[in-house]
Amino acid sequence: MKKLILLVSISLLSGISITSCKKDKSSTEPQKEVYLDLSDSNAVYFPQYVYNGSKVNKTAVLGRVLFYDRHLSINNAVACASCHKQAYAFADNVAFSNGFENRKTGRNSSHITNIIGVRSFSSVTNISALLFWDGRQTSLVDMVTKPIGNHVEMGVADINSLPEKLSKLPYYQELFKSAYGSGDVTVERIANALGTFLAAINSDSTRFDKAKVYRTMQYSALEEEGWMLFNVKYNCASCHHLGTGTYFQNGFEDIGLDDSCSDIGRAAISLLASDNGKFKTPNLKNVAVTAPYMHDGRFKTLKDVLNHYSNGIKDSKNLSIKLKGTDNKPMKMKISEEETDALIAFLNSLTDYNLMTDAKFSDPFKLK
Ligand code: HEC
Ligand code: HEC
Repeated sequence: MKKLILLVSISLLSGISITSCKKDKSSTEPQKEVYLDLSDSNAVYFPQYVYNGSKVNKTAVLGRVLFYDRHLSINNAVACASCHKQAYAFADNVAFSNGFENRKTGRNSSHITNIIGVRSFSSVTNISALLFWDGRQTSLVDMVTKPIGNHVEMGVADINSLPEKLSKLPYYQELFKSAYGSGDVTVERIANALGTFLAAINSDSTRFDKAKVYRTMQYSALEEEGWMLFNVKYNCASCHHLGTGTYFQNGFEDIGLDDSCSDIGRAAISLLASDNGKFKTPNLKNVAVTAPYMHDGRFKTLKDVLNHYSNGIKDSKNLSIKLKGTDNKPMKMKISEEETDALIAFLNSLTDYNLMTDAKFSDPFKLK
């Protein structure tokens, strides 16, 4: 395989460092030199049986560069990776992330792993999944350009201006050519490449996968107890489903976080009052590292999350029937200390610790 190494120096706008979001246009700091190092890109992004085209890995390589490139924001201040950090399974470790003008996002940044689960697919354009906390996007390729245009996130109001901007950067010609056969930069290609990269971020080498999917390993007694509590006693699995490829992700539910909700969630999309306060049941893959939790990042630890289910469920208007007792009141699960430990051991087993350092998903822009 041809080795794809690009050593192109680019200078970011003065004062913008590759490691910090802070921007200061008046700064006289010397420009920081960064270079693009794709020497680790021979790694296979997709298992061969899932993918037919040989160009797909190269498309993911391009997607990786785009994902980490701050030039995708209007003022070169943030990249997708500013809010979706590899160290946290491509989530952010704060409740709300900083956008291109340091304004905060309205919701907690989602992690990006196993978006497509284990389903096989013939091209990225047909990948569908419930995306965002309210499921407002269902096509991965259509979705990826939304943050670029978002007025808080990346601020590129006219997405059609992006191809020209990116064409002027020295490294994209070769990358687009290697992915698509010609150096033309188009919005469709940007979306396709980003979508391909995101779809490639899969973790199936967790203790859970080994113990319960591939059966090459046994759970510890504590993990096994947690697995039983999750599936049987507390029936968490009634919402956090293990369906084909869906990895503990399911429909929209109100889990009684507040008596009345300030963020109406799914109702903003469906326009149904019965959806007020409902959010997408999140995919729990890598949950050990995606704190803080919930759509507004209100809980700092998994213990806080379990305390909510144990004795904090509020009598909200659309509280899920699955979280109500026989008296139609919010359920009090009264999860014991020992059960809490077991559930946390099980939840931790859903985490793929190799993903956080996997070179093929890492930042290709290095400081000189
Ligand atoms: C300023 C922070 C920020 C930036 C920059 C950003 N995102 Fe996000 N991202 C978020 C937040 C916040 C959410 C959740 C928003 C919601 O659900 O309403 C999100 C959600 C997502 C999701 C949905 C995941 C799921 O499972 O539902 C994907 C995919 C995604 N972003 C990809 C990207 C890509 C690709 C880029 C770059 C083009 C990007 N993001 C840039 C903050 C950011
Ligand atoms: C009625 C459906 C339902 C049940 C039952 C349920 N969950 Fe959830 N869970 C959700 C929804 C929906 C969210 C997101 C809510 C929000 O952000 O508003 C969530 C969020 C979470 C989160 C935070 C994930 C993140 O990325 O922020 C964890 C962890 C979690 N649930 C674990 C559990 C456990 C453990 C149980 C069983 C004790 C359980 N859930 C039972 C629907 C459910």
